[in-house]
Amino acid sequence: MSAKLSLVAVLLCACSLAPPTPEEQVPVGNAFGEARSVIVAGTSSADLPATRTQLGTNGRVCNTCHGSTIGWGPNPEDDQARFDLIPGVHRHSFDEGQVASNAQATTNDQLDPLFRPNDGTGAPSADVSTPAARSSSYALLLSRALIRIGLPVPVGAEYELTAIDDPYGHATVGELSLFRRTLPMTNLRFETTVMWDGRATVPGDLDASLRRQAIDATLTHAQATQPPTDEVTGRIVSEELDSVFAQRLDARAGDLADGAQGGPLPLFDLQSGFYAEMNAFPGPDPRGVAFNPDVFALYAGWASSADQNRAAIARGEAIFDRRTFQVSGVSGFNDVLGQSTVTATCGSCHNTPGVGTSSQGLLCDLGLAAPSRRPSDVPLYTFTNLQTHEQRVVTDPGQGLITGKWEHIGRFKVPGLRGLATHPPYFHDGSAASIADVVEYVDSRFAIQLTPDEKDDLVAFLAAL
Ligand code: HEC
Ligand code: HEC
Repeated sequence: MSAKLSLVAVLLCACSLAPPTPEEQVPVGNAFGEARSVIVAGTSSADLPATRTQLGTNGRVCNTCHGSTIGWGPNPEDDQARFDLIPGVHRHSFDEGQVASNAQATTNDQLDPLFRPNDGTGAPSADVSTPAARSSSYALLLSRALIRIGLPVPVGAEYELTAIDDPYGHATVGELSLFRRTLPMTNLRFETTVMWDGRATVPGDLDASLRRQAIDATLTHAQATQPPTDEVTGRIVSEELDSVFAQRLDARAGDLADGAQGGPLPLFDLQSGFYAEMNAFPGPDPRGVAFNPDVFALYAGWASSADQNRAAIARGEAIFDRRTFQVSGVSGFNDVLGQSTVTATCGSCHNTPGVGTSSQGLLCDLGLAAPSRRPSDVPLYTFTNLQTHEQRVVTDPGQGLITGKWEHIGRFKVPGLRGLATHPPYFHDGSAASIADVVEYVDSRFAIQLTPDEKDDLVAFLAAL
């Protein structure tokens, strides 16, 4: 073999053995700067094939609601733009050809496939025949990015559904209408609970959980007449597990990886070290490691930065990690720990290092589904305990509708916090329009008594995730 040929052979061999490199993808703009995805080069592309292949009957693909170019979940601003097709704001691209703006469309089918009455309206029978009717029928999607999830009261539940107040007249005991915000279809390797109510979770098996989820999404959102094949389901799941997403650039503080650990590349590296119940609160975790309150240690290097915007992000991180407050009356937290009052930090629940999911798979009731917070445009449900005859009134029973357990009513999963700035509104019901609204809510729910400056710092930090 000539020297030249053997050099080629060595190079080829080195190429095929080198691990695929993670690559940053195109930026996604948001109110605070830019976020980016990272995927492994060579295994998939920014717009992932199986998750953008039509799997059902209504023109939808996974990326209709979860595309990387729309920040892994629609937000009301994008939804309105897609309805109106404002040039330059319509950031989503489709394979299936031209779509019309609401004003132009003579039938609903000409609209962007996000707008389908099976789950995009208050009820499947909603009038979508004229532009005016569509503007009102899709109001929840346009104002709060909410999708209708239809789920029955499970057999053997510890309660009975004793009253339904549905402004759209559709909900029954066989199908409650629950209006929920999309969860990001990325950063999934850090999940122990899949879906807001945990209904796709197969304990200890993320792959099986995501397969179950993908089949369900195809049958419901995409209105498929049969489930996807194992091969297609497997491809969807491997694409889903192949990406991370995080804020990369802050409009005021600049490059989030400059002297700090922000952005998607350090997050990508955390994936291989994740394990269930990692950094469990109050600890120790299954590997004997004590709880470390410094869940986020991305911006410690900016603590004494001369740049005030960077210093503010570092102060916000310290508040998240270290400010203690008393948590009481949180179902899914106090009762699970067996303590009526717990001295906690934000990271007691959002405990996965660098991510903020609950590595313990906690689902908690922060009181968001309470009747006092009900907007008039969503249903309200009354449940009566079969044994005690006690009543609970909620807009969404969360995990309680999956397990049928009384004490699970109102519990929702602890969501991950990376890439937050890209996907307002927040909470399962989209009730917090901004990150500042989330901070107001948690400050008052846990009586933390943050000062206005501390709230600003916490917002600056959360927006830099
Ligand atoms: C019509 C919009 C829509 C479409 C289309 C859609 N989803 Fe979703 N997705 C949602 C909503 C809404 C939720 C949250 C629902 C809930 O928790 O009850 C969600 C949740 C998820 C989650 C859970 C993430 C987590 O952190 O628990 C995954 C994974 C997911 N979707 C994947 C998919 C896949 C795969 C497809 C395509 C087969 C798909 N979705 C199609 C709206 C959509
Ligand atoms: C007792 C557990 C617990 C504590 C403590 C806690 N959270 Fe959460 N957090 C949750 C749960 C559960 C949700 C989802 C609630 C829902 O939507 O019903 C949530 C939601 C959020 C969200 C919205 C994310 C999204 O995608 O919608 C943010 C942001 C957040 N929390 C930040 C914080 C901050 C900051 C603190 C500390 C000041 C904190 N949390 C303390 C459990 C907790």
